[in-house]
Amino acid sequence: MQTPDLFADQPLDPHIAIGAQAFVLPGCALPYLDALLPAIDAIVEAAPWRQMVTPGGFTMSVALTNCGALGWTSDRRGYRYSATDPQSGQAWPAMPAVFSALAQHAANLAGFSHFQPDACLINRYRPGTKLSLHQDRDERDYGQPIVSVSLGMPAIFLFGGQTRAGKSTKIPLKHGDVMVWGGVDRLRFHGVLPLEDQPHPLLGGQRINLTFRKAG
Ligand code: SIN
Ligand code: FE2
Repeated sequence: MQTPDLFADQPLDPHIAIGAQAFVLPGCALPYLDALLPAIDAIVEAAPWRQMVTPGGFTMSVALTNCGALGWTSDRRGYRYSATDPQSGQAWPAMPAVFSALAQHAANLAGFSHFQPDACLINRYRPGTKLSLHQDRDERDYGQPIVSVSLGMPAIFLFGGQTRAGKSTKIPLKHGDVMVWGGVDRLRFHGVLPLEDQPHPLLGGQRINLTFRKAG
């Protein structure tokens, strides 16, 4: 069960409500960056970026990798979570403590206590890369929220409705922003508009997004 009394006991961290149980937490990841960025490098070393093929046969423009007990994968047979990296046959790199700490902090601020992610999908966007509108529905328990961390180049996130035809809100996301959505907003359609080329001082010509989920 999620607590309905959002922010009742929380300090006044800045947050922007974009739904009844969906929030942008501007700059929420910034205090974690010194530990976060080297941890991402180590994961990419062990499980390199790759572009996956969708069940429809299209190669995704976003490159990805994973850490945690389960990793999100796609191929001609479908989308699924897997305990092993299909490219190496090895377990995905473990989820670094700083990842879980940030995800839990953000989930708490949004009113979702006891979030224990077992999967972190790491997406890399280059200029021109986009992510089409979709729902996150490969997880077992929709009672668990999604925590999404934006790093590097800015992006425009589309936060849509409960159906594909629903109206989308454009949400500008910048380096360090975190979004959390769950509860009644858990299955909202969402996506990312094609990225503009606005190199970031730390990360250069890329946007890295961490998506934390309790998948299993
Ligand atoms: C996703 O929906 O999987 C990623 C969203 C993002 O990159 O902000
Ligand atoms: Fe998603």
